[in-house]
Amino acid sequence: MPQHFDDLRSRFLALDAFLLAHQHLWRPKPFTHRQLPWEAQHPELSTWLRQRSLEQAESAHNHPEQLAAPTPFAEIARHSKALSEIDALPTHALNAISSRMSVDVPGRKWQQIEAFASSLSFRSTPTHWLDWCSGKGHLGRRLAHDGQTLTCLEYDEQLVEAGTHLSARLGIQATHLRQDVMADDAALRLKLHHTPVALHACGDLHVRLMQLASDARCTHMAIAPCCYNRIASDHYQALSTEGQASALELSLDDLGLPLSETVTAGARVRRHRDTSMARRLAFDLLQRQLRGIDEYLPTPSLPSAWLDKPFADYCRDLADLKQLPAPVDQNWLMLEAAGWQRLAEVRNLELVRNLFRRPLELWLILDRALYLQQRDYHVRVGTFCDSHVTPRNLLILAERK
Ligand SMILES: C[S@@+](CC[C@H](N)C(=O)[O-])C[C@H]1O[C@@H](n2cnc3c(N)ncnc32)[C@H](O)[C@@H]1O
Repeated sequence: MPQHFDDLRSRFLALDAFLLAHQHLWRPKPFTHRQLPWEAQHPELSTWLRQRSLEQAESAHNHPEQLAAPTPFAEIARHSKALSEIDALPTHALNAISSRMSVDVPGRKWQQIEAFASSLSFRSTPTHWLDWCSGKGHLGRRLAHDGQTLTCLEYDEQLVEAGTHLSARLGIQATHLRQDVMADDAALRLKLHHTPVALHACGDLHVRLMQLASDARCTHMAIAPCCYNRIASDHYQALSTEGQASALELSLDDLGLPLSETVTAGARVRRHRDTSMARRLAFDLLQRQLRGIDEYLPTPSLPSAWLDKPFADYCRDLADLKQLPAPVDQNWLMLEAAGWQRLAEVRNLELVRNLFRRPLELWLILDRALYLQQRDYHVRVGTFCDSHVTPRNLLILAERK
């Protein structure tokens, strides 16, 4: 990915134009619409997608751009791919560490930490790491193992305590502080000589770091964002001048789109997820009939034991929970089958939306990168690991000019 200011900016503007031009394709969610507004405009694509199986949708999910679907799919896919192209950040070999350090860390998390750490390169060597929303502080410890100072900020008391014990046991000089990073006094925690790092701090949490660290004029920082939709406001508040000037209004639902890529799950987990969705889609058909209103009705997330109920009981209980009239004279077998049929259609129609997943994520990342540039940072953006290690694999590196 081009590193130069104008290139980040021109990429942002190209993404902005692409997303704006195709809003009708990525905003409506197949799950909540029986018919999507764009289907009338592209009947051939709609019919082609609707006749495909659930297995076919599943196999195309993480690479929708490879699908040979009718127009305008291929052209949009090409455009999406070109706009989403982004290089891996250069990496350097890490010093070997004691295997004790990774003992309590789940495998994939440790891979993320190693990849994050090996992608950090700054002109001057950091002296004091600040692990932002640190959990137990595994990332900070990996970075500070050769003697640099480490401060970990985390608001979950148990994680702070566990982190303190781990650091002491591993002989790492670290201070684990209980801190709500959204509170006013969080600003006092950031010092000029800190190098803040944030691995997967959600929405508002990493935005807050960029604001406070640039206010404190920290020399460098590294942020791998996630959960763009975990924000307090009901729609996205752009950060950069270009983002604020954009006509793109992003709801919480829209902000969830980049997160919809799934890491390959085992067969049991997939079956569970699919059954839950197929039942919800079947219930959606039922509730439209019971209410006499052809509109989606949100339902709460349900304990997984609900999936052990017979289908008819599931529907009756959910109707009761939503205070709908009790269903009578239903052909439950047919309704259940209709739910599975809809699931296949929904998953295949979602492939169109999925073409915009990475472009929207990059738009959000570049809004952050441009914001830091506008606050006097030299910024690099790239991937720090493969998407199978984590789909949230974009890293922003910022150094004060
Ligand atoms: C997704 S986890 C990431 C943890 C760690 N960086 C890692 O990669 O393993 C987000 C962490 O942020 C913490 N957190 C959430 N809200 C916070 C807040 N307002 N202030 C401080 N920490 C918070 C959570 O308790 C959790 O440990």
